[in-house]
Amino acid sequence: MEKLIVANWKSNPASIKKAQKLALAEDYNGVVIAPPFPYLDAVGALLKNASLAAQDVFWKDGGAYTGEVSVSQLRDLGVKYVIVGHSERRALGETDDIVSKKVEAVLGANMQVIICVGEHLETRKHGIEEAKKFIIRQLKIGLKGVQKKNSRDVAVVYEPIWAISTNPSSVPDIPEESAELIAYIKNAVNIPRVFYGGSVNAKNAHEFLNQNDIDGVLVGGASLKPNEFKGIIDSA
Ligand code: PGA
Repeated sequence: MEKLIVANWKSNPASIKKAQKLALAEDYNGVVIAPPFPYLDAVGALLKNASLAAQDVFWKDGGAYTGEVSVSQLRDLGVKYVIVGHSERRALGETDDIVSKKVEAVLGANMQVIICVGEHLETRKHGIEEAKKFIIRQLKIGLKGVQKKNSRDVAVVYEPIWAISTNPSSVPDIPEESAELIAYIKNAVNIPRVFYGGSVNAKNAHEFLNQNDIDGVLVGGASLKPNEFKGIIDSA
């Protein structure tokens, strides 16, 4: 299975020109680019090799929902993947039940869903077994609408919150421990593709991507720096 590299630009960059420049620099096979909503159309028009992703979606397909974006609107722009349940969205109030509705909406629209899960430092301080329990609880709810026939359209990202680069106390995870957790997730919820996310950069990417159980990486901060990102691609 090809290892996938997901570039999650989060709420960056600040202009469409900069977004176009970044997209051209990251347009590789095996890459999925998730720009902010306002750049999806312009970025999608430039990509020849990479696939287009959205960072979020609303679960209702149109209607009176001011400020929300629907699955049909994303699909119409050529979006292939939708990220749901990123820890930064969960920090703004997104619950496992909301995540579950979004997962179903994305699959119902024939797109692929990338569902993020991960524990806080407080949980991990109690050990890896506690982290496993926490993540499986998140996934049991988040994936409740997923049937076996859809499991190939789902990717899970294990992103421990304490390892995300913008977290003030951030430390990258130990690749062997991420791989252990990821193997556990695959078994427990029967999802074949599971990625790692959290401070992946050009220096450490090969350590994560060399782990058999890690099927790809989700890259935040380093995806805003083309040279750094190229280093990650070269490790895949
Ligand atoms: P980071 O973000 O690569 O900047 O740590 C990863 C993530 O948000 O999962």
